[in-house]
Amino acid sequence: MAEKSLYERLGGIYNIAAVVDHFADALAKDPIAGENSTNPFLKDWYANYSWRGAGFKVLTTLWVSEKAGGPYEYISTIPNQDSLDLEPTHYEMRLTEEEFDAAGKVLAETLDHFEVPEQEKGEVLDAFTAHKKEVISGTTK
Ligand code: HEM
Repeated sequence: MAEKSLYERLGGIYNIAAVVDHFADALAKDPIAGENSTNPFLKDWYANYSWRGAGFKVLTTLWVSEKAGGPYEYISTIPNQDSLDLEPTHYEMRLTEEEFDAAGKVLAETLDHFEVPEQEKGEVLDAFTAHKKEVISGTTK
């Protein structure tokens, strides 16, 4: 029998959306990567553009779904060849490695909150880390 995709093992789109929803809300409260971050983009985003949070959750849910082998596909608001490439949408945010790693910690805590099994938790965190270079390209390139 073929192994189930990560998407299936996570329980599908509703479970992924619940994780993303919780993650985004927890991220906002993180001292390094949230609304009190010293990063000018994040500060401005939380102060003036947090209405975009709902759309951010939709897009990130679709991104995770596609990355995990699910049937729902993500289309970036900044079109580029590799649809899952996060550099075009994150470059201008000038995110640092410290901010990225803080977000990774919040993600790990969120997966624990939902009692996602170790195997799947590891795969989700690996998928997150696999795109680190793209996300922090604004401070490393
Ligand atoms: C692998 C890690 C990450 C993934 C998978 C991810 C995913 C996404 C996606 C799919 C979008 C929507 C882009 C679009 O407009 O099409 C987005 C936007 C955004 N991301 Fe990320 N992201 C990651 C890391 C981060 C980190 C570390 C931060 C901040 C600490 C961050 C902050 C944001 C913000 C504020 C937006 C909204 C931008 C806007 O309003 O247009 N992201 N992210």
